[in-house]
Amino acid sequence: MKNGLACIGLTTLDVVARAIDALPKEEGTGLIEGVSCAPAGTAGAPALLAARLGLPSRLISAVGDDLTGRFIRTALIDFGVDVSDLEILPGLPSSTTLLAVSSSGVRPGFHALGAGMLARVTPSALQAVSEVGFLHYGGIGGPKLDGGEGVSIVQAASRAGAIVTCDLIAPQPSAIEEVRRLLPYVDYFLPSAVEAVFLTGQQDLFVAAETFRSWGAKGCIIKNGARGLVVALDGVSSTLPAYAITPIDTTSCGDSFCAGFIAALSRGWSPLDAARFGTATAALVAQGLATLGKLESFEATETAMRQMTLNEAA
Ligand SMILES: Nc1ncnc2c1ncn2[C@@H]1O[C@H](COP(=O)(O)OP(=O)(O)OP(=O)(O)O)[C@@H](O)[C@H]1O
Ligand SMILES: [Mg+2]
Repeated sequence: MKNGLACIGLTTLDVVARAIDALPKEEGTGLIEGVSCAPAGTAGAPALLAARLGLPSRLISAVGDDLTGRFIRTALIDFGVDVSDLEILPGLPSSTTLLAVSSSGVRPGFHALGAGMLARVTPSALQAVSEVGFLHYGGIGGPKLDGGEGVSIVQAASRAGAIVTCDLIAPQPSAIEEVRRLLPYVDYFLPSAVEAVFLTGQQDLFVAAETFRSWGAKGCIIKNGARGLVVALDGVSSTLPAYAITPIDTTSCGDSFCAGFIAALSRGWSPLDAARFGTATAALVAQGLATLGKLESFEATETAMRQMTLNEAA
């Protein structure tokens, strides 16, 4: 059976600092708990996180030809991600996000656009997605993917037998048309609650999930922070709680849910159990800084699932 994951879409470097409750006056320097840098983005983060969970993963995306791009590439290679389809685009900076996490966990950010959003469908990328068990599509909003190219790689993966998952970030109004183009080929659509409301105009997340299914998605799981998940699979809708934790930094929780969900599916877990594993993955990521947080391995996440308690009250 085919296995392994290909992720296509945005790659950034996240620079996360905590705790920042106010900026120092003028050019003063404040001492803080920690600063952490890691590859991130709707494709970069799931590729890194899935590799951490033991699932062979490759990344179809781009970085600039700067030091940040070299750092992103080296970090991905270090964790075992296949970067053969991570293009280095001359003359462009790498996409970078600076996040200042407050002591209460609020995380305002600053994003500098760069090569990371210029993922494209190359012959090599098409070949790659015909060989994997899973394609995670994080390319909505990408100028080289929206409007047809993105759907072509999703179709190719689906036709070759891959399970297709899809997540997005900061959708613009144009994303609605793109989502509708993609969903007929998507097995599991994985938006956040805010994104689901924005895309469907529905405040009720169960109605939003059914709307995505009516647009063609076979299944839909809406991520809702500490409140957990709204799950619509095979005509059955339910909620799944998140774990009760004290979050340090929730950056990449959405991406880590996706990576955990896919990693568990790849081991033959049922979609509902895989969704539970996804919330456990996110709970570990939220307890440390940046993309990986406190995530160590698939086995350590299974152990944590038995030890953590569910936040049933949320
Ligand atoms: N404060 C929290 N406590 C416990 N679990 C959390 C918390 N925040 C997030 N999670 C877990 O992470 C999952 C995904 O988080 P979230 O709903 O914030 O996704 P997202 O909005 O896509 O995130 P991102 O901002 O990374 O794109 C949740 O369904 C939940 O299981
Ligand atoms: Mg998200």
